[in-house]
Amino acid sequence: MKSLSLMSVLAAANIVNAGPTPTENELPKRADSLPTVTASGNAFWAGSDRFYIRGIDYQPGGSSGDKDPLADTTICKRDIAKFKELGVNTIRVYMIDNSENHDECMTELANAGIYLVLDLNNPKYSIHRYEPAPSYNAKYLQSVFATVDAFQKYSNTLAFFSGNEVINEQVNSTLAAPYVKATTRDVRQYIGSRGYRKIPVGYSAADVSQNRMQTAAYFNCGPDDERSDFFAFNDYSWCSPSSFEQSGWNVKVKNFTGYGLPIFLSEWGCTTNGRTFEELGALMNSEMTGVYSGGLVYEYSKEGNGFGMVELSGDSTDVTEDGDFSAFKSALAEYPTPTGNGGFTSTTNSVNCPSEDPDWMVKDDTLPAIPDDAKAYMTDGAGPGPGLKGEGSQNAGSTSTGDASPGSGSVSATGSGKNEGGRPAPPVDKGAFAVVGLFTIFTLVGTLLL
Ligand SMILES: *[C@@H]1O[C@H](CO)[C@@H](O)[C@H](O)[C@H]1NC(C)=O
Ligand SMILES: *[C@@H]1O[C@H](CO)[C@@H](O)[C@H](O)[C@H]1NC(C)=O
Repeated sequence: MKSLSLMSVLAAANIVNAGPTPTENELPKRADSLPTVTASGNAFWAGSDRFYIRGIDYQPGGSSGDKDPLADTTICKRDIAKFKELGVNTIRVYMIDNSENHDECMTELANAGIYLVLDLNNPKYSIHRYEPAPSYNAKYLQSVFATVDAFQKYSNTLAFFSGNEVINEQVNSTLAAPYVKATTRDVRQYIGSRGYRKIPVGYSAADVSQNRMQTAAYFNCGPDDERSDFFAFNDYSWCSPSSFEQSGWNVKVKNFTGYGLPIFLSEWGCTTNGRTFEELGALMNSEMTGVYSGGLVYEYSKEGNGFGMVELSGDSTDVTEDGDFSAFKSALAEYPTPTGNGGFTSTTNSVNCPSEDPDWMVKDDTLPAIPDDAKAYMTDGAGPGPGLKGEGSQNAGSTSTGDASPGSGSVSATGSGKNEGGRPAPPVDKGAFAVVGLFTIFTLVGTLLL
C-alpha cells in the first residue's frame, strides 16, 4: 500500500527533462571528445544526453580461453572495423590481462565511438562459487584493483562488472553473494580512494529466474557504500517471433519498476528459431526505456555454442560474417537510439534486502570486511597486475582448500546457465515465489540526484 504513494512520487519525478536530444550523427567520433558515461537516477548519461547500451559481447577464444582481445592491436583493429560496420556503441570484454598495455585498442575503440563494459575477474582471479570465503582475499583484490587502475584512465570505459554469473541455478551458489557484494563495495571504495572518475560498478547476473529478483535486490540493499551503481542480467527469453508480452519482458519491466538504479541486459539474443533481433525494437521503445538502458547481444565471434555471428580463424585478419551479422546490423539501423529521456526516473533508491527462502540462502545481510592485508591498496594503490598467468588467487586466502576449480569462478557467460538452444539452463519453476512485491515495498532512502 505504502508502495503506491512511493510509485506516484517516482512517476512524478519522471517528467524531469534531460535536455537536448542527440541524433546518431551528432555522436562524438574522436577519442578526445567521447564523453564519459555516468549513472544518475535509473539511467546512464553521456554528458547531458541519456545513454543507451547498444552493444555486443566480445569474447574471441570463448569462455575457456585466456585471450585478452584488447592487448593485441591486430586483433582489436580487425574487430573494431566490424563493430563500426554493425553500428554498436558498446562492447563487453569478459577478461583482460592487467599486465598488458591497452592504450592503442582503447583509443581505436574511442575513435569508433565505442565504449567498454569490462569484467574485473578472470578464471584465476575470481570469487569461487562454492567456496567463496577463501577466494575473497588480498591477492584477488590486488588483481581486481590493478584492472581498475589499467582502465580508469580511458574516457570510454563505461562500467565495470565486479562479478559475472557467480550465482547460478544451484541454490547454494547464493551463499557467494556476500563476497561478490563485498568486492563491489571494495571496488567502489578503491575508485573513490584513488580519486578516479566515478566509473559505475555492478554485477552481471545469470539468466536464472528463481533468484533473479533476490539477486537484484541484494545488490541494491543496505548502506549506500555497499550498493551497486547499476544492475545487469542476462536474458534469453525473447525467442522470435515473439512479443513484449509473450516473452515476459513486460513482467520484467513491471518487476523492476522502482528498482532505483540503471538496469541493462548484459547478454541477450535467443537463438532457438533463428535470429531477427526484433527484440531490440522493444528494448529501444518507451515500453522499456523507463526502466532499461539497452543491452549487449551475445555474441560477436562463433565459439562453438551457436551464438556468434562471425567466424574467426585465430589471429588471422580474415573475418567471415554469417546471416546474424547482417540481421543485427539491420536491427540496429531499424531501431535507433530513442530520442528524449525515455521516461527515466531521476531519483535513485535502495530496496529491501531479500529474505532467506528456499531459493535464497543468505541469512545475514552484513558483508565480510575487506581483508586486512588488502586495506593498504586503498591508500598506496594496487601495484602491477598479475596478468592471467600464475597460480591465481582462489586458494590464496586459505591453506586448506583443494583445487582452484577453474571455471567455477565468475568467468564467463557460457560456463553456466545456458544451453545450446539459446535459453538458460533450466531452472525448475518454483511457482509460488516468496518474495512478494520485492520492489514495490521498498523504502526510499536514496538521495535525490537531480
Ligand atoms: C553446492 O552444490 C553443488 C552442486 O550440487 C555441489 O557441487 C557443491 O559441492 C555444493 N557446495 C556446497 C558448499 O554445499
Ligand atoms: C516478478 O515478480 C513476481 C513477484 O515477486 C515473481 O513471482 C515473478 O517470478 C517475477 N517475474 C519475473 C519475470 O521476474
